[in-house]
Amino acid sequence: MKAAVIHQYGQVADVVQVTDIPVPAVGPQDVLIEVRAAGVNPVDHLIVKGFMAAGELPGPLAIGSEVAGVVSAVGDEVTGFSVGDEVFSRVDPRVGGGFAEYVAVNRALVAAKPSNLSFEEAASLPLVALTAWQALTEQSDVRAGSRVLIHGGAGGVGSAAVQIAKQLGAEVVATASTGSTELVRELGADQVIDYRNEKFDEVLSGIDVVLDTIGGDTQERSLRVLKPGGSLVSIVPVPDADAMKAQWNVDVRSFLMRPHGEQLARLADLAESGRLRPIVETVFPLDETPAALLKVERGGARGKTVIGVRS
Ligand SMILES: NC(=O)c1ccc[n+]([C@@H]2O[C@H](COP(=O)([O-])OP(=O)(O)OC[C@H]3O[C@@H](n4cnc5c(N)ncnc54)[C@H](OP(=O)(O)O)[C@@H]3O)[C@@H](O)[C@H]2O)c1
Repeated sequence: MKAAVIHQYGQVADVVQVTDIPVPAVGPQDVLIEVRAAGVNPVDHLIVKGFMAAGELPGPLAIGSEVAGVVSAVGDEVTGFSVGDEVFSRVDPRVGGGFAEYVAVNRALVAAKPSNLSFEEAASLPLVALTAWQALTEQSDVRAGSRVLIHGGAGGVGSAAVQIAKQLGAEVVATASTGSTELVRELGADQVIDYRNEKFDEVLSGIDVVLDTIGGDTQERSLRVLKPGGSLVSIVPVPDADAMKAQWNVDVRSFLMRPHGEQLARLADLAESGRLRPIVETVFPLDETPAALLKVERGGARGKTVIGVRS
């Protein structure tokens, strides 16, 4: 089958190849998914560069973190999924392999694809929607009436988080660049701050939860807008959470999302009822995986980049 692989870590243009590799073996608890589309995320180019790994690659590594497709085989112990089911998944990060014609995924990481979404739309959701869900409901406690600030509201995670926070009943403020403010308003944000023209920490205060998708200076300035006892949840590194907590009397944490089929099924319900809308910005063919990765690496996202594997 065709798949995007690397044989060594390095720059995307130097090391990512689309080539033929064997169809993956199906373990007893795996479903084999015939991939129709795969979402592209910043973590994919970070993996290519070796930022997420320790040591050398033991062999070729198939890359790609999330897929939508059709079940083409199931392991002996699998219940709940059958050949022909339309599914989507944030695949096991230790295995990867989403930018490929087939991927084998443990059934616990798989959910039924929302029937109202195309494969491209469905493939754009698992990683970002699970990240947003876990940030807002596990790493913090966003509920009706919470005031939430979401940075990068037009990006992959931000666009999902704005919608999920609204569903949880929050008042949502989001930051975005000039060309993306209207999109973020359409997603449901009550207030959108164009971060290139306005400093959010000069106009906001009394925030319960900040979702930091940016880091650096944005992360530091976010501490100033939180209520005492509020919460900064970051999905990028936080250099010194303990010092920040002590100085500002707030909770500060960074976390890594985890794949989760049951949570994905709940998010699929939200999507199916129109309360979580995927935003697909660009679709590339599988052969152009390096170009898709480079687009995500360049930034400026308005929703997600997706690879259409087969129609
Ligand atoms: N910890 C985890 O489990 C986890 C999970 C998912 C993602 N991540 C990380 O989280 C980050 C965001 O991921 P993503 O998928 O949402 O990325 P993305 O799709 O590239 O979105 C980032 C968004 O932020 C905007 N932006 C850039 N600088 C900004 C600033 N100073 N203030 C406000 N917005 C700004 C960008 O647009 P403009 O350039 O037009 O402003 C873009 O819309 C990445 O570093 C990724 O690796 C971590």
